[in-house]
Amino acid sequence: MTGSHSSATAPAPILAVEDLTRRFGGLTAVEGCSFRVDAGRITGIIGPNGAGKTTIFNMVAGALPPSSGRILFDGADIAGLPTHEMFHRGIVRTFQIPHEFSRLTVLENLMVVPAVQPGERLWRVWTSPARVRRGEREVRERAEEALRFLTLWEVRDELAANLSGGQKKLLELGRAMMTEPRLVLLDEPGAGVNPTLLLKLRDMIRHLNRQLGYTFVIIEHDMDLIASLCERVIVLAEGSVLTEGPMGAVRRDPRVIDAYLGGGEEDGQASPPPSGRGRRPDSGDAGDGGASGNGRGFPDSGSPDGG
Ligand SMILES: Nc1ncnc2c1ncn2[C@@H]1O[C@H](COP(=O)(O)OP(=O)(O)OP(=O)(O)O)[C@@H](O)[C@H]1O
Ligand SMILES: [Mg+2]
Repeated sequence: MTGSHSSATAPAPILAVEDLTRRFGGLTAVEGCSFRVDAGRITGIIGPNGAGKTTIFNMVAGALPPSSGRILFDGADIAGLPTHEMFHRGIVRTFQIPHEFSRLTVLENLMVVPAVQPGERLWRVWTSPARVRRGEREVRERAEEALRFLTLWEVRDELAANLSGGQKKLLELGRAMMTEPRLVLLDEPGAGVNPTLLLKLRDMIRHLNRQLGYTFVIIEHDMDLIASLCERVIVLAEGSVLTEGPMGAVRRDPRVIDAYLGGGEEDGQASPPPSGRGRRPDSGDAGDGGASGNGRGFPDSGSPDGG
């Protein structure tokens, strides 16, 4: 049986990055990057610490303007637009370090996600109160549904500050799900998540993609997670796209192994090759309380699902 995605009918990419560059003073964090993201797929971005992965997300999500280059979303150049404009177009992102509102409850954290919802347009409080009430009810129902899905229901009335690191990652995913986004950028969803919760998180991402059609781009150092979720992986090194392809091919690419080894130090602790989680303990990403190495290696099969 032929699949619904034959190469002859390949869809236009939902996101295409063209010759994207970002400088910070004398440092070029991202240099001439070009890649595409197909709608309905899960695309991985890997690369050693400091490769420029988060900087790319920051530009796509509108947190940082590019120094040069284009970011095409649905064919329109959105480079340099502010975060709220990207959000309005359906681009949401989660952070390497969770950005929960620590003094709100878990439920409230989901309910305050800005959305294009009737209750937000305050004039409708006067012109259409019934509609506003219905809107609020829908937001609550959606939040509650998300909490059940994310297995955070039991802690819905806890302050978000009291959640574990892994639960905060789930909450980040939940916040992204509140808006029916068109493109979800996940920055290290697995960092700091315990192995049991990580499997759950993986299954949730997979479900959101397969059953609900969400498009994801996932930055991860956990090669197992990337290999099991992503059909295509983009490898960044020193700000540039080194290669891309299925994980099975990428993991055998000597240039990829070199990129990981090249950033290492002699004690073998630093920047492990693609047989570890790939994070240096002294990662320059300020404030990232994320991952500790867990020794997970590249799995033998690079196939996300085998069909
Ligand atoms: N706001 C900034 N100002 C100055 N330099 C920055 C800034 N943001 C990132 N950088 C630098 O740009 C480079 C790329 O950083 P980035 O955070 O994108 O890497 P990364 O691939 O996400 O790394 P990691 O895997 O450790 O999260 C690094 O050298 C970093 O120090
Ligand atoms: Mg990063």
